[in-house]
Amino acid sequence: MSRIAYVNGWFGPLEEARVSVLDRGFLFADGIYEVSAVLDGRLIDNDAHLARLQRSVGEIDLPLPESLPRIKEIQKQLIAQNGLVDGLVYIQVTRGAAERDFVFPKGVKPTLVMFTMVKDIVNAAAAKTGIAVKTVPDIRWARRDIKSVALLAQVLAKQAAAEAGCQEAWMIEDGAVTEGGSSSAFILTQDDVLVTRQNSNSILPGCTRKAVMALAEERQIRIEERPFTVAEALAAKEAFITSASSFVQPVVKLDGQTIASGTPGPIARRLREIYVEFARATAD
Ligand code: PDD
Repeated sequence: MSRIAYVNGWFGPLEEARVSVLDRGFLFADGIYEVSAVLDGRLIDNDAHLARLQRSVGEIDLPLPESLPRIKEIQKQLIAQNGLVDGLVYIQVTRGAAERDFVFPKGVKPTLVMFTMVKDIVNAAAAKTGIAVKTVPDIRWARRDIKSVALLAQVLAKQAAAEAGCQEAWMIEDGAVTEGGSSSAFILTQDDVLVTRQNSNSILPGCTRKAVMALAEERQIRIEERPFTVAEALAAKEAFITSASSFVQPVVKLDGQTIASGTPGPIARRLREIYVEFARATAD
């Protein structure tokens, strides 16, 4: 059975899904995306992702072609039609198809594309072994708080990481880690303080980051929101990443050097378990 995708009101086989070559997402990366996790056929922390979608499109004056409740309905229809148990739902909205001109076109309907992907996030092998991370310069634009489809810098960052045998890239600016190529970055200091960069235009406000911080706080774990350096990460007790597509994943190596013992730390493992419990308990 082929996967069923959604394009502007149409549901059909993914290989038949089409958008115009004049679509501004294709020509200018003039679009926004979101990724929500699915566990047991239900959406995880999805309202946070839809709220961020609304904020991102607002920041670039792109009207959503469907209401958020309708988008949620389409997400659920795709999960049902694809029989998706564990995986991801991808949403992309662009400023539509029009003659190539930088200025916003008038009277053009935005393009809405959605599809699902199968992924067993809970049982990912990397959660047990931990991942290796490579640092790269952060060469992205100045509005990283907007979840734009312009991901070339992250494509290059993650490709460089993959070529170095690593599973994620940490991007560095002014001597400090901003975030992962497609994840938020955390360390646990020797004094048991969880450190992650504060939200600003420099990073994407991660939905998983926010949920994990709230869960950590409830358990009296101290948190500092500030930039941290690679040297701090290498001297840390633990490190991990968070994202919709990985939940909480321990980082055990950075630029070829092990972090602490080089195995997933107890806090990262515990936060992962707690996050999975929270995800299942609040799934929609
Ligand atoms: N990426 N930072 C960046 C640059 C990201 O691309 C992502 C998510 C995150 C984590 O955000 P969240 O916890 O809301 O997923 C942080 C998605 C998963 C992706 O591009 O596939």
